[in-house]
Amino acid sequence: MTTGARKVAVIGAGNVGATCAFVLAERNVGEIVLLDIFEGFAKGKALDMSQGGRILNYDGRVTGTKDYSDIEGSDVVVVTSGFPRQPGMTREDLIGKNAEIISQVGEGIRENAPEAIIIMVTNPLDLMTYHMQRITGFPHHRVIGQAGILDCARMTHFIAQTLGCSNEDVQAMVLGGHGDTMVPLPRYTTVNGIPITRLLDGDTIEAICKRTAGGGGEIVKLLERGSAFYAPGSAAAIMAQSVLDDRRRVLPCSAYLSGEYGMDDIFIGVPIVLGKNGVERIIELELEDSELASLQKSGSFYKEQLCSILGY
Ligand code: NAI
Ligand code: 2OP
Repeated sequence: MTTGARKVAVIGAGNVGATCAFVLAERNVGEIVLLDIFEGFAKGKALDMSQGGRILNYDGRVTGTKDYSDIEGSDVVVVTSGFPRQPGMTREDLIGKNAEIISQVGEGIRENAPEAIIIMVTNPLDLMTYHMQRITGFPHHRVIGQAGILDCARMTHFIAQTLGCSNEDVQAMVLGGHGDTMVPLPRYTTVNGIPITRLLDGDTIEAICKRTAGGGGEIVKLLERGSAFYAPGSAAAIMAQSVLDDRRRVLPCSAYLSGEYGMDDIFIGVPIVLGKNGVERIIELELEDSELASLQKSGSFYKEQLCSILGY
């Protein structure tokens, strides 16, 4: 646990935003501002979290607002504002409505927290991350999307369940866009250094990859209203903390590519070093032809939508 006078703004006090804020509060990151168009909703959750400090032993200040001037001086802004999907919807069905929200939020961040690192969560993730960078005009390394940590955590969990071992000992790798085209990479997935290809047969690995790619939809179907939030909110908090503490964690995140993996002018999930400047470095894995083709196919899918739907 660390303490310090750092400030994080979380835009959107809904399921994912509130979970993220709660995880950050519990980790004593400093000052947290929850912003939502519904002021009472943000204020009420902030007060509830503040009172929880006595129970879980954290001291940081948590406040709620609808006023962008309150995010001034934020080191990190986590953006979760937007509609979640409902059963039967893909993440891409959310593009139009959520792009409008991101335009509005982006202006608020640009005017009030111009030095912040932005961590995007709103879906469709890779497209909204691109849109946010264009709206703010921030350098590409200061706008990053959360998806890979969640997708890897899902794959990790399915492997741990299958093997009957601890989540902690599994390291999974999932690249590509946060959607049906994501690219789980069994060759880069290990159990405490042991390749999973040595522990599980091909059919089992394939089934785990498929369940990982459909992991968000599986939860949407079960919930019947809204989408996952405990793991997604926690994942965004871990990213924020890596930036705030300059931990330089190696995490799969949606980052801007300019030539890496043979792709250009796109945000897509790749391993990065995440530190105080945001993306400190993009790590280029050696991929087999079929793996690279899947990753590029995922990139092309989103590139097409950037042009045809968002007009970029
Ligand atoms: P939610 O509906 O619980 O919360 C969204 C919040 O955004 C609401 O409180 C709403 O009032 C607020 N909001 C709407 N317009 C706003 C605006 N212009 N300014 C400020 N606040 C505004 O939804 P939930 O479950 O928290 O999901 C949020 C977003 O995160 C969705 O787009 C969802 O698809 C996405 N998501 C992304 C994941 C990822 O891995 N990248 C995982 C899970 C969800
Ligand atoms: C998820 O993967 C819906 O993107 C959200 O749970």
